[in-house]
Amino acid sequence: MIQNTTTSGLGRRTRYPGPIDQAKKHPHGLVAQGFATDEALAEILHRYPAELFDINLYDYDDEGQVSLRTGARGGLTGDQLLAAIQAGRLWVNLRQAEKGCPALWNAAMGEFAKIQATYPGMRAVTNAGQLIISSPVAKVPYHFDAAGVVLFHLRGRKRLFIYPGDEAHLPEAAMERVVARQTTEELPYTRAFEADAQVMDLEPGEALTWPLYAPHRVENLDKFCVSLSMDFQTWPTRFRNGAIYTNAVIRSRGGRPRFTDGMSTPELAARWAASLALRRVGGLKSRIEHFERDFTPEAGAEDGAGALRA
Ligand SMILES: [Fe+2]
Repeated sequence: MIQNTTTSGLGRRTRYPGPIDQAKKHPHGLVAQGFATDEALAEILHRYPAELFDINLYDYDDEGQVSLRTGARGGLTGDQLLAAIQAGRLWVNLRQAEKGCPALWNAAMGEFAKIQATYPGMRAVTNAGQLIISSPVAKVPYHFDAAGVVLFHLRGRKRLFIYPGDEAHLPEAAMERVVARQTTEELPYTRAFEADAQVMDLEPGEALTWPLYAPHRVENLDKFCVSLSMDFQTWPTRFRNGAIYTNAVIRSRGGRPRFTDGMSTPELAARWAASLALRRVGGLKSRIEHFERDFTPEAGAEDGAGALRA
């Protein structure tokens, strides 16, 4: 039986410095403002730019290893898309929520300011986000985000599993491949990690933060779910992302870069500056820009995934 972990006594759950040392819930007021009704969601889905849709269908084997199929939005109406998600097994990310649903986004930025104020020294310099609309039984595999995250939960119930940000759960060489977009694979995962998870159930009106980079996975708890995932960069996260990118380039050239958690702020800043130049000259070519779609959402189809029509 999984219980919600109490946050006392866990200590610092990451090797990286930063104002958030463990996962924590915060209240938010977005639900009361009516953003997650069927009507509001169908409207958002209908108008959202097609190029900002990610429609994912995850399958897991007995060891918890994931495979992914991706969907094309197709010509469905917002109502039809909503019905396919509610009846299927889909995970839909609407990227660039700041552009795609600005009213919700502006309200969320107000909530973010209140949460940020509870962490002394935390100052986001950029915020971006995605509106996540997902089927009752959908699950997101083990991964990390190269940013701070506040997950505003708006509808349904979901369970977050958050793991320590140490080398065992979050190897820097694997982080480099993700940051430099060298692989579509996520972090290596084994079931043995479950003993180390901080488990938290989210209800509408609750937001969750966790330490920068902390690996996590998500299970919806048999309810259609809506969340706004807001990610943010601070100067320290920019420096570290840049250092990890530079380390990826060094490693691709046969070097053996040091772990970034052993680097001073000036060292991280220097590696961030190097990363800007490396990115400009295409230091590492992204290998995941183009990939095929496998299905289109359809309410009556198995998993909500209908056949693509040519
Ligand atoms: Fe995430």
